[in-house]
Amino acid sequence: MRRGSIVALLGLALIAGGVATAVALVPTWLPEDASQEAGRIAFTFWFVIAICIFIFAIVAAVMVYAVLRFRVQEDDFEDGPPIHGHTGLEITWTIIPFILVTSIAIVSAIVLSRNDAQAKDTLRVDVTAQQFTFTFSYPDAGNVTSPVLMLPKGRSVELYMRSLDVIHSVFVPQFSQKEDVVPGLVTQLHITPTRLGTFPLECTELCGLGHSLMRSQAVVMEPAAFDSWLKKQGKTAAPPSSTTTSTTSSTTTTSPSAAGLSVFNANGCSSCHTLSAANATGKVGPDLDNLVAYAKKANQPLEAFVHDSIVDPNAYIQPGYQKNVMPGTFGQSLTKSQLDAVVAFLVQSAQQSGNK
Ligand code: CUA
Repeated sequence: MRRGSIVALLGLALIAGGVATAVALVPTWLPEDASQEAGRIAFTFWFVIAICIFIFAIVAAVMVYAVLRFRVQEDDFEDGPPIHGHTGLEITWTIIPFILVTSIAIVSAIVLSRNDAQAKDTLRVDVTAQQFTFTFSYPDAGNVTSPVLMLPKGRSVELYMRSLDVIHSVFVPQFSQKEDVVPGLVTQLHITPTRLGTFPLECTELCGLGHSLMRSQAVVMEPAAFDSWLKKQGKTAAPPSSTTTSTTSSTTTTSPSAAGLSVFNANGCSSCHTLSAANATGKVGPDLDNLVAYAKKANQPLEAFVHDSIVDPNAYIQPGYQKNVMPGTFGQSLTKSQLDAVVAFLVQSAQQSGNK
């Protein structure tokens, strides 16, 4: 090979490699990492990208060089000279990819095993997914539950995830990990948050009409703030009826009970229903500000109608909506006092919006 050809090939490889590197580095492709696991995944990603750029530069240079240098003349109809292969070249282009692919496998295996390794003081969080909401509970802290995933910074956390109906999937882009939540299985996800902040947590498995609304948040707090949050939640989870009776007596009717509102929020009702008393604007299920009219249409007393619609949602379907969209599990998952509180809350707010 002539010296000029080698220089030309090298030049083309540098140009192709430079362009590919710019495409990889200039736009911000990935969100900023917020966990140790995300950092390792990003390392694996860039390791593979670097190999890809190296291979791309070689292939692009040889291709462009061959197209320009060996272009056929217009009046040339001859066959090219016969070629019988080149053993040295074949060994080279087998060994180099073998080394590269093997190194990707080794790096990935190390990252996977490190990412799954729990620390001794790992915090357990139970995740329940159902159409169309997530609930997070903390079994080490008396099963405090939250509609938002609260996490202490720097602590190893293991999510144990269950689904009550169909397949869902948990994804926080800043944590880089994604794990399906499958009925009948308990799937796990290990996270070690490294950055304070509030990050989107979304369902990434098409799970029904409300899939696009099945969103929550992951909030990473300082460990001390997290502990005091847990303690505070533990206290407010105590008997709801006695502590929340309103002390104001300015209105003749008691205001919609705070206990009912918190049951409404904690069970993700707002992701599917509109209810002005809860600032909820969901559009998947019936508008709960119209409960009075719905009960009339169903020919039932309001309170019994609301109660039955929560416990046995398929018993009466408001025209324009579908069966089996509302979870049929609230009859079991809510305690009697929670159920009574949310029914009372809904009845009260429905009567108020009906009087407007
Ligand atoms: Cu749950 Cu999509």
